[in-house]
Amino acid sequence: MFSDLAVPKADPILGLTQLFAADSSPEKVDLGIGVYKDEAGEVPVLATVKAAERWLTETQMSKRYFSSAGNDAFNSATRSLLFGAQSDAFTRSRTVQAPGGTGALRLGMDFLRVARPGGRVFIPTPTWTNHGHLLAAAGCEVVNYPYYDVATGKLRFDAMMEALQDLAAKDVLLLHGCCHNPSGADLDADGWRAITDTLGRSGALPFVDLAYLGFAEGLEEDTYGIRLLARRLPEVVIASSYSKNFALYRDRVGALTIVGANAADSDRAYEHLMPLARALWSMPPDHGAAVVAHVLGDALLAADWRQELAEMRTRINMIRALLVKHLGGAARDYAFLSRQRGMFALLGLSPEAVRTLREEHHVHMTGTSRANVAGLNIANVERVARAIASVSDL
Ligand SMILES: Cc1ncc(COP(=O)(O)O)c(C=O)c1O
Repeated sequence: MFSDLAVPKADPILGLTQLFAADSSPEKVDLGIGVYKDEAGEVPVLATVKAAERWLTETQMSKRYFSSAGNDAFNSATRSLLFGAQSDAFTRSRTVQAPGGTGALRLGMDFLRVARPGGRVFIPTPTWTNHGHLLAAAGCEVVNYPYYDVATGKLRFDAMMEALQDLAAKDVLLLHGCCHNPSGADLDADGWRAITDTLGRSGALPFVDLAYLGFAEGLEEDTYGIRLLARRLPEVVIASSYSKNFALYRDRVGALTIVGANAADSDRAYEHLMPLARALWSMPPDHGAAVVAHVLGDALLAADWRQELAEMRTRINMIRALLVKHLGGAARDYAFLSRQRGMFALLGLSPEAVRTLREEHHVHMTGTSRANVAGLNIANVERVARAIASVSDL
């Protein structure tokens, strides 16, 4: 009976939404949910997406099924974005469309049981909480490796490299492509090279979660890690999300890309992906993928989208700089925040400080003190910085 079921643990993000809705202060600020907001606090539909949607409404004549791989034009455009259309990795790779980055991760994790049977999946500490849930659902064994030190605001690079000595050929290493969630601390070029060497020696498979392409330094720059892996290693798996860089959150647009040692190997792997996708969702939703394919396939729209993406990135980095400036009087040195990228920052506050921020200053963030800096704007950043400084020693 359903009545016999245990009461499940409340979803912390859902709880945050309720607390925010219940806060009646006109000054309340939501730094919890992971969506990009503009200076006015809106999560708008991009102009290029609107243009592609108009085109789609006028020209789409059929909504017949595609295959489990989804939209071919979208899949090819994804590989171009990841590697460049002239690259060896483009030729050696195959892409399957998936419902969001989450769907791509889940499909990839099901594929790991085929590609690396009996292998363990090494995931960073900390990481996006859903990684653990997805790996559990796919039945993968998890090993945590140290990645980031909340107290110092720095990567735990040496500890990470030591932990990765344990990787074996049948294992998998999960990496964030850029804008690490929740810390915002990314590997630099030397870090990527060291990890690539370790993977080369061990034969373990890199599995890159790329949910924020274009949000860190730029569309090309943010592919540094995946392109290096694909150049130097025979096999790479990449889960892409278009939720943030196209602001298509609830349209569920994502892709799983596999790079094999050669095109024939990738074709074989692709044939394994198809029945896995069919068992998960039969075929992914087309609307958002058709929009992305149209934008990326039209030179003018693509240029406009790059501009819209650059505006989002520039605003995030500007807010980071302002936050650090206004935190200047705090007991802790927050300069590390300006060296990190993407929407998230781990402030290293105690649960009591997070509660005080919410109850006394109407600033809402997750209990781990992960703040979405895109929830700030020029008008409120100083007040929020002062509030953070006032609770940082609690
Ligand atoms: C690190 C990371 N991976 C994947 C995703 C999944 O994104 P999507 O909404 O496309 O499923 C997110 C979303 O917040 C994320 O932060």
